Amino acid sequence: MSVHKELKKVTTHRLQEMKNKGEKIAMLTAYDYSMATVVDEGGIDAVLVGDSASMVMAGHETTLPITLDQMIYHASSVIRGVKRALVVVDLPFGSYQGNSKEALNSAIRIMKESGAHAVKLEGGGEVAESIERIVAAGIPVMGHLGLTPQSIYKFGTYTVRAKEEAEAEKLKKDVLRIQQAGCFSVVLEKIPAALAAEVTQSLSIPTIGIGAGPHCDGQVLVVNDMIGLTKGFRPRFLRQYLDLYSQISGAVQNYVNDVKTNDFPNASEQY
Ligand code: KIV
Repeated sequence: MSVHKELKKVTTHRLQEMKNKGEKIAMLTAYDYSMATVVDEGGIDAVLVGDSASMVMAGHETTLPITLDQMIYHASSVIRGVKRALVVVDLPFGSYQGNSKEALNSAIRIMKESGAHAVKLEGGGEVAESIERIVAAGIPVMGHLGLTPQSIYKFGTYTVRAKEEAEAEKLKKDVLRIQQAGCFSVVLEKIPAALAAEVTQSLSIPTIGIGAGPHCDGQVLVVNDMIGLTKGFRPRFLRQYLDLYSQISGAVQNYVNDVKTNDFPNASEQY
């Protein structure tokens, strides 16, 4: 008799069930195999292979330069490390804004070549047709509204969005439109907590907040930020659980010292 208990994988339906039951959804980004293994075994519900990889992995100033091929590379590595969580992959800038056929082709490439479970894209009414087309092909889509980093040059800053009435009203319309188009969930980034609460109430699908207060159905953070690997990045919404930058830097200094003083390797660290 097998003693192995089957691992229950998190699906989009499970996320919906969690919203319906009032259970919070915990999501983190990951971009490589090792981190994906740790966050999955830590019990995360969903892993986002975010285009934030462009910044935290590749050192670019924005999310814009990362390519579809690079996203597929990160996503494939993450998929190999995840056994339980739902893996959502960002459609990068330039891979879906042209038209809905381009959007569908990019989503298909991500699903086929990486083995991901869902894609995410930024925008409201203007991407609704693309969402419909991707969902019609059987691919789950997560939306993303509020501060949408692929539009940073339009916004000009990474400050809180939708503080003014007009932008808040537009966001409320957009979120309903992308829900109607078939999104299974939506990320709300850097908007006032009261607005996120109202939007969360108005939707049947789960909202995942980042800098959007406690009333969203779930929360997402960039993993490198929450473990303190991103030096000097301390926005108000970020809870930093570790200070890995200092810890790794200290370990490197100790290693350098041990090598230079002939302390490493010692008698038990050789053959
Ligand atoms: O790319 C990313 O990491 C994201 C999160 C900030 C939600 O989109």
